[in-house]
Amino acid sequence: MADNTRAWMEELLAEMEERRRHIELGGGPERIKKQHEAGKMTARERIHYLLDEGTFVELQPFAEHPESELMNGIQAPADGVITGYGKVRGRTVFVFSQDFTVLGGSLGKTHGRKISQVMDMAVKVGAPLIGLNDSAGARIQEGVDSLSGYGEVFYRNSIYSGVVPQISAILGPCAGGAVYSPAITDFVLMSKGNSYMFITGPEVIKAVTREEVTFEQLGGSEVHTTKSGVAHLERDGDYAVLDTIKQLLSYLPQNAKEKPPIFATSDPADRKTPEILDLVHPDPKRPYSMHQIIETLVDNGEFLELHTNFAKNIIVGFARLGGMSVGIVANNPRFMAGALDINASDKAARFIRTCDCFNIPILTLVDVTGFLPGVAQEHQGIIRHGAKMLYAYAEATVPKITLITRKAYGGAYLAMNSKDMGADVVMAWPTGAVAVMGAEGAANIIYRKEIQSSPDPDATRQAKIAEYKKAFDNPYVAAARGYIDDVIDPARTREILIRHLEMLWSKEEERPWKKHGNIPL
Ligand code: HXC
Repeated sequence: MADNTRAWMEELLAEMEERRRHIELGGGPERIKKQHEAGKMTARERIHYLLDEGTFVELQPFAEHPESELMNGIQAPADGVITGYGKVRGRTVFVFSQDFTVLGGSLGKTHGRKISQVMDMAVKVGAPLIGLNDSAGARIQEGVDSLSGYGEVFYRNSIYSGVVPQISAILGPCAGGAVYSPAITDFVLMSKGNSYMFITGPEVIKAVTREEVTFEQLGGSEVHTTKSGVAHLERDGDYAVLDTIKQLLSYLPQNAKEKPPIFATSDPADRKTPEILDLVHPDPKRPYSMHQIIETLVDNGEFLELHTNFAKNIIVGFARLGGMSVGIVANNPRFMAGALDINASDKAARFIRTCDCFNIPILTLVDVTGFLPGVAQEHQGIIRHGAKMLYAYAEATVPKITLITRKAYGGAYLAMNSKDMGADVVMAWPTGAVAVMGAEGAANIIYRKEIQSSPDPDATRQAKIAEYKKAFDNPYVAAARGYIDDVIDPARTREILIRHLEMLWSKEEERPWKKHGNIPL
């Protein structure tokens, strides 16, 4: 009897293993070869590279599509998506990875339900969700069921937004309405040359508008990281995208109830930064590298910039100070003199809200002349878009520290996390200048009559500019009135920032009850 039982069990196990082996082969060797030839990893290779070795636990490998007339007899191992959980650098994450070798990674009812189930579990457990997208879109043979599958996923992307971090990697096609799942998530990363996102493809566009465009020109990673701002990052190939996801996770908490992890750092908290004294030029019209300033201040010069090539007039990204995660928002004097335009406002507002969702303190570095003047900006709604920035800063309850490096003028001074808009600590370097506008513009307006009636208008104008500069173009008027907490030595900035950050780490701030705010969109 014992022998019979063992033999029976071994037979069942052999069948189970055989089924599993078949499923793990996805669309089979030919299609895997094609995937590799296209420079792409398979869905399983991606998961194994992303997760710590041996930690992946697959869920529902045996799931199958519901039988329907058109799907009858079609094999779809794992229904074209591998789902489960594992660890990245020792921390639990949930993951789904679409298998392009199985019906082009197309999404049907079961495929959508598998994704929804890991999303639900990620939220119950309180761990990030990572989606590895490589899919031809709605599974045509399943008709409305595949649309329903998408609906379930979009719904969860939305209601779980701000609950756990959601990260989307686009590693192949992502077309049609399918793009809205990644678009709702917190971070979108694309692989260069091998991925694209669009609502309607080149052929439909040609038929409707007669425009001729390639996949890459329409929705490749360059377009989405420079023009549309849909993607936060592009990287060379699957490995680099997956490496960046691991890096990104290190700045984030597991969920909105936790704080981000603190890492031990070899970079001393009291390291002086005298190199900054040579960076900021005396002529306010001469730009300097805000990136260099950021890299000088943060731990080991490590800065993970997002949206690097989109709205370059503002810089956003993650770094650490004394091992603590910070989200940095900084004007970039090298582009449009750091002026705030529509795209910069959107980029900053979105990033500020991302930091606030996940308890990441915000450091704001200010060198801004104002909002960008221009008919196009006004007509396209700079008022509406700029308002997002003010709203996002005011709404954020995370620690908020501001450092004015040079100019902080007008409405943009207020928008860049000023004291009155809710900053916890505002500091300035001696090079800082808070005023309604720059000295030249101000002198021309308030002394116009005097300048015009003067025997030497140019000399009078210069004298008045100097007078105005002395009175207002410095940080001390604002400091005297309490709008700036301190004027600090640039060489001691890192040390001072870390002290403030440590002090603010346990900050809590309540807001009046509301269902949710109504940010201008
Ligand atoms: C089912 C599909 C499929 C689909 C491709 N396949 N698209 N199966 N549903 N939507 C299958 C193919 O038959 C093929 O099967 C395999 O996937 C690989 O496809 P290929 O065409 O051979 O690959 P490739 O040449 O690399 O081209 C990839 C592609 C192309 C550009 C993505 O397949 C394509 O254009 N597909 C249709 C895309 C599409 O229109 N999707 C619907 C978008 S609308 P075999 O057996 O030969 O390997 C949408 C709405 C979502 O998604 C709405 C949400 C609200």
